[in-house]
Order: sequence, then structure tokens, then C-alpha cells
Amino acid sequence: MTNQPQETIDTLLSEERSFAPPAEFQAQANAQSAEIYTQAEQDWQGWWASWAEQLQWDKKWEQVLDWQAPYAKWFVGGKLNASVQCLDRHVQAGLGNRVAFYFEGEPGDQRTLSYAEMLEGVCQVANGLKSLGVGKGDRVTLYMPMVPELAMTVLACARIGAIFSVVFAGFSPTSLKDRIQDQSAKLVVCADGCWRRGKVLDLKSVVQQAVKECTSVEKVLLWSRGQGLRSESAPIPQEVAWEDVVGPQPTTCPPESMDAEDPLFILYTSGTTGKPKGIVHTTGGYLTGALATSKLVFDLKPETDVYWCTADIGWITGHSYIVFGPMANGVSQVMYEGAPNHPAPDRFWQLVETYRVSVFYTAPTAIRAFMKWGDEHPSKHDLSSLRLLGTVGEPINPEAWMWYQKQIGGERCPIVDTWWQTETGGIMITPLPGITATVPGSATTPFPGIETKLLREDGSEVEGAGGGYLVLTRPWPSMLRGIWGDAKRYEETYWSRFPGKYFAGDGAKRDAHGNLWILGRVDDVMNVSGHRLSTMEIESSLVAHPAVAEAAVIGIAHELKGQAPVGFVILRGGYDQTQQLAEELRQFVATEIGGLARPENIIFTPELPKTRSGKIMRRLLRDVAEGKAVGDVTTLADPTVLQGLQKEYEDKEKC
Ligand code: WTA
Repeated sequence: MTNQPQETIDTLLSEERSFAPPAEFQAQANAQSAEIYTQAEQDWQGWWASWAEQLQWDKKWEQVLDWQAPYAKWFVGGKLNASVQCLDRHVQAGLGNRVAFYFEGEPGDQRTLSYAEMLEGVCQVANGLKSLGVGKGDRVTLYMPMVPELAMTVLACARIGAIFSVVFAGFSPTSLKDRIQDQSAKLVVCADGCWRRGKVLDLKSVVQQAVKECTSVEKVLLWSRGQGLRSESAPIPQEVAWEDVVGPQPTTCPPESMDAEDPLFILYTSGTTGKPKGIVHTTGGYLTGALATSKLVFDLKPETDVYWCTADIGWITGHSYIVFGPMANGVSQVMYEGAPNHPAPDRFWQLVETYRVSVFYTAPTAIRAFMKWGDEHPSKHDLSSLRLLGTVGEPINPEAWMWYQKQIGGERCPIVDTWWQTETGGIMITPLPGITATVPGSATTPFPGIETKLLREDGSEVEGAGGGYLVLTRPWPSMLRGIWGDAKRYEETYWSRFPGKYFAGDGAKRDAHGNLWILGRVDDVMNVSGHRLSTMEIESSLVAHPAVAEAAVIGIAHELKGQAPVGFVILRGGYDQTQQLAEELRQFVATEIGGLARPENIIFTPELPKTRSGKIMRRLLRDVAEGKAVGDVTTLADPTVLQGLQKEYEDKEKC
């Protein structure tokens, strides 16, 4: 059922190490007593409403929840503006001088922006967007690096009610084009480039190629990174410069009063087909979830904390736990543009020391890289400001967890392993750091108000210890409201496998203590360095190459990335199975989709293992690629195909 070998999971489940919250941490925690779970259980709608009340509403809701499965409306009739929650509220409370962002560029350039400065900047951008004809309900695509202007543009869209969609600035022109076209964006906001490992990434040329085929795009608003960075690209026909459009604008802009259920953003994520899904999130519920989870999971103390989430705003983690959650809480944050190992592998720890970071949130893939680079890098720095650590995006192996706890957390910081998804909008399964005894490798228990179940194939519930499909059984405020333009796919993907329940696509096990262990995806979705990729998407890209007749892609276990894509390829007649062609195909995928999707390996094969009905048996390919004993082959049409493949793979490994 899962991508992870059964033996590993059983070993994990006998994990007996457990860490109670340190007394000192518990004494100051935002959530100190397990009663919070009981209270939320007694009245889960009331629990969420109590969080919504902490936001600033223009008009209060009439009904907390209208649930016509699978369609939820939260805080029905309520009106508010998302940017007000993150900015105006704090400035009005006299906190305008508090630092919103300590920004550091990869070359070392630094900027500090207060909440008041962010508000002024956001208003200028909002006025600029309006001057370009963008208004409520229009779609705006953002293709920008990690700079404060990205957060500003997100909040500026929210301010005028435009629906924003951030595309991670590592995606290819084709991926960007597909997303712009899917949402018929009127405006693209981009940067000319950014710094990565000492080199300039030319983002403008990506946008230039992407918008050629996008008839909906009226203007491209171009922000210049500066700092000696130059884009060699020719002007884009619809290009207008940030300094001309945004620069002269007034620093105030009245916020649009939005319905709680008005869409806030669309974020694309990979599904099981070749076409990414535009996940739609709305305003009131999403903010409620982001506010509550940030405050309790990260134990935020806005007066004193310096929080740093190392994700990119191009992913959901950056939306919920850089922009909306932390900013709605009014905390100060670090934002860093570049690579963790530039100019040296201690860059992150240098930043933690410089800015006295107290809460740090990153991904297991990064932790595994830090382990590999060596303990000397964190040891060089004073990390005593840290008080809480978090992880997200993929299962964390206990060894990495223990390393994180010791080398980064100095054995004094609780670790919150947070399970959630683009679709859930906010954290769903997690320890609460002042309450939960943490266990290396387990995300522990659902957040208060959330109910999870493990189901068997036939939909019956696994009670007590055991494994199954992970489902969420109640609506929650920050849940996705749909897939942009595709209601049918929304219903089918999430709500039809187990009718009326949200099927997450992950498998999980519950141990004897009631803790949950996420086993990974049970569908054709891979998790590469914490980022979701669809096997189908990479397959479609491979078969678009003239040399390829057929392709099957699988994710195999990878020491650093968690999983890595491997492509099995049948060539068309007239093409030779050369190393050079394999390299060309790897590069082809990287150019078509983005560097993340580049296959680790290409295996040429004359045939693929298929069921009698013609379905490729990816599970068997995975066994071959991981060098494991091949599993059940009884449904295979031609068992000899596998032997050939195994030999092919072993030969490849040797060279
Ligand atoms: C995986 C990222 C184990 C899971 C926020 C999920 C995790 C997918 C964890 C969502 C975790 C996320 N432990 N697995 N703590 N967090 N995942 O949409 O497979 O990019 O379905 O959201 O990442 O990835 P997405």
C-alpha cells in the first residue's frame, strides 16, 4: 500500500524514545494543558469560532459552518480583509515599529522592514496593481524569489481582493505557462532574477517564454533585484517597471472588504494525473486556521520571538507559515534569499546567530543535508537563542530527528513534526510543544478540533494500533474549497474514495501509545526534497521527447531527498541506448518541468511490467530500482519482463 518498506515501519513503531516538554518550556507555553483538546472536542465549531473572533472583522459572521459535504462554508456572511489582519491591526495597536522581516540576500545585502513599512509598501503595490486595471476577483500570477517584495505583492493582492497565485521560481516556462493559462491571469508580477549559489538565475527569460502563449496576460510587472544582478533578456512586450508603476504610488490604500468565502489564492500542486491542480483557498477560514496553528504549534511570542521558516513562499508552507500565520500573529521573521550552503555550509547557522532566531522551521531533506555536511558547521555558531524547532514536508527519519534535537536544539528545544498538505491549508497533525511528549519520527496527534481516522481498503475503521489510509472526518476552516475550474476532480480526488471523508492520499500507522506515523503517499505522487511531484507529469514530459516511445516514472528512496524520480524508458526505433541520450532526457525533464523533477536515473528497457489490463506496475519497478526482492508478480502479464529489467538495472549500477 505504501512506498515505504514494511520492515522499516515496524522498526519505527517500536521506537521507545519519548521526550516530555522541558518544564521551563511548558511553564511559558501558549498551550500548557491537555484540556485544550477536550474543550475543542466538546465543541469543535465553537473552538474554531473562538479563533476567528481574534481576527478583525468588518462584519461578523451569521453562521460558523455551512457543511454540504464536500462543500464547506465557514463564517458565513462575515466580512474581512486578509492584509488588515497581517498589517493594519498591528500598526493600529501601536506596534508599527516592530520588525516584520529581517531580510538577507544571498550576497549578504540586508534590509529590515517594520510592520509600518510593510503596510506602506503593500499599499503602494496595491495602488500600482489597481493602476494596471487589476481589481477584485482578477487573477495575478507571481513568479518571484524570496524577497520582501514577494510577501508585499501577495498582501497587496489580498488588499484589493485580487486572487493571487504564486508559482515557485524554479518552475520551467512550460509549467509557468500552464498555470497562467489555467487561471487566465490578467497580470504577472515577476523579478528579473535572483541569486543562487553565487550565480544569477534569470527569471525574466522564463517569464518571457511563458507569456508568449498567454493571451490573458495584459501586463508583466517587473521588479529588479539589483545588487549588481543583470538580466540579459530582451524586454517582454507587456513589461512595465516596478519603479514606474509602484514607486510613485501613495502609501495608503483602503482595504477591500471581502466575504469570508471569497477566494484568497490558488496554489498549484501535483496530483496523480499530468495536470497540476489549482487548489483554492478562501479568506476567513484560511486565516483562522493559519492564526491558530501558528500561535499554538510554534508557540509564538510576538514581543520577543524571531521566527524563521526556511520554506519558499512558492509552496503552501510559505503561504501559511511565512506570510499569513506569523504575520497575523505579528511576529518578527527572518527571510533569506539563497542557498543554505553558500558561501559555506554554515550559512543558516550564521543567520540564526546573527538574528538571534528563536523558532526555526525547516524540512527533513535540509536536516539530512546538514547532517551530511558535518557537525562542525552548526558547532561554530552560537545557537542558544533557539527555543523551538519544527519540521514539515515528508516523514523525518528518527536518526535525523535525533541529530536535529542534539546538534541544533542543544537538547533543550522541543521539536514539532507537522503533517499537513497544500489542500489542508494549515497544520493538521502535530505535537503541541508545551503539552505533547514527542517521539522521533512521529507527527503524534491531531491538532485540537481536527479528527483523523485510519481506514482499511473497504472503508472500515482501524481502531487502536494498526495501519490504514489517513482520512480527515470533519471539515476544518482552512480546508481547500475546490480545484480551480474543476469541481468534478475535487469531488473525485478527495471525497469519493471514502464517501464524505477527506482522503489525504497518505498512509499512516497508529502505535500502541496512540501516536500517528505518516508512511507517505499511497498514490502516484512523489515527495522529492519535501516537494510534491506527480509521476504522470514526468512521464508526460518524457514521452514528449522524440526519442521516447513509452515511459514509466517512480520515486525511489533517496538518502538526502527522501525520494527521487527514476525513469524507465522504451525508445523509439532508430535511437540508441546511450549514456548521452539518458543525460539528454534528464535535462529535457528539467527544462520542461523544473530542476526538481530531473530524474536521478534513466533506465532503458525494451518492455515495461504491465498487468493484463495494461496498467504499468510501478510497485515492481520500485522494487527493481531499489534493488529489493521483487514483490507479488501474480498479476503481471509477462513475468520475464522483470528479469530483463533487473539485469538492465544492475548493469547500469555497475557503470
Ligand atoms: C507529506 C506540505 C510526513 C505528505 C505542507 C503530504 C509529510 C504531502 C509531512 C503534502 C510530515 C507533509 N510527515 N509526511 N510531517 N508533512 N508530508 O502539499 O505525503 O507540499 O501528503 O504540503 O507531504 O505536501 P504539500
